[in-house]
Amino acid sequence: MVIAMNDQDSAECSISPPVEVVAWTGDAATGHLRLLDQRRLPTETEFLDCRDALAVWDAIRSLAVRGAPAIGVAAGYGMVVAAQVLPDSGDFITGVEAAAEYLESSRPTAVNLSWAARRVFRRAQDGLASDLDAVREAMLDEARAIHAEDVALCASIGRHAAPLMKKCSAVLTHCNAGALATAGIGTATAGMYVAAAEGHALTVFCDETRPLLQGSRLTAWELMQAGIDAVVITDNMAAQVLREGKVQLVVTGADRIAANGDAANKIGTYGLAILAAHHNVPFYVAAPYSTFDMTLASGSDIPIEQRGSEEITHGFGRRTAPENVKTYAPAFDVTPAELIAGIITDRGIISPVTADNVAAMIGQ
Ligand code: MRU
Repeated sequence: MVIAMNDQDSAECSISPPVEVVAWTGDAATGHLRLLDQRRLPTETEFLDCRDALAVWDAIRSLAVRGAPAIGVAAGYGMVVAAQVLPDSGDFITGVEAAAEYLESSRPTAVNLSWAARRVFRRAQDGLASDLDAVREAMLDEARAIHAEDVALCASIGRHAAPLMKKCSAVLTHCNAGALATAGIGTATAGMYVAAAEGHALTVFCDETRPLLQGSRLTAWELMQAGIDAVVITDNMAAQVLREGKVQLVVTGADRIAANGDAANKIGTYGLAILAAHHNVPFYVAAPYSTFDMTLASGSDIPIEQRGSEEITHGFGRRTAPENVKTYAPAFDVTPAELIAGIITDRGIISPVTADNVAAMIGQ
């Protein structure tokens, strides 16, 4: 991560992620999607080339690329590789729609996935009067627009979140809602990076985030690349950290936010919000407008992804539970709006978190 101030007196700063998380190489007809393989971090920096929809589906499902905004950007490009092999016939648009449905099935909770896939699908539909090579070009153009927009959304979140971060000497976060989860400087981390760029020293306690350790493998890694003080704790240490008064604020990302402000995020977030409320520490969610699902009245309608039992039984590369033991593995939970002090969006901070305030900031 490179953090540099452009101007001493302005909040404008140039912050580059430590490594490109998602990229497109080549043209619309023959190019491909290149992903940082996040399953290998923090020990190896390897890239994964995805040349068909199956490879993109698999990369999303297996968490090679993960985090709601990054999944959305990858799905946008996934639509382009899917269109490369569709026939130049009347069946083309049916195939594009099927590709959107297919990619959406990889992970059900993050709404950014269907938001991006549908956006590229609509662009294909709108261009159907042209020849299909031009439609494929238009699809790539839309995927690139989603990518560029995500960079800008993260930067805007950072500008809104930085004043909150500057009031704190230490904050706590869960999972990875960082640069690795987006095309830009992250959502929960965006304010940390902007505050750091403006000279503020911040310590970030990173929940390890069982079972797949996104907090220790990814968040601690990217914060350290940026020179931000990162402290890894296991998830069950958060209560003690809060009780000892070590942090003044908790901030996480979100995978989908309902119209009333209920927010789905990595499993363990809800428990953390309860702990924060108990200790009178404000709990914030940071997310772009693309993470809001205004079609859902409340969080109880958000689909919760279930993961395979091996992620629990073989957590650290070896069996850590008895053979044939039953498991229950929801990947996300929903934090009710009343536990959220504010939702930091690219448009401003929604606080208090009510359906009316969400509608006023995000629209219907
Ligand atoms: O299962 P993951 O690693 O995709 O879960 C990621 C999260 O829960 C993030 O907090 C969320 O997607 C927001 S990313 C800016």
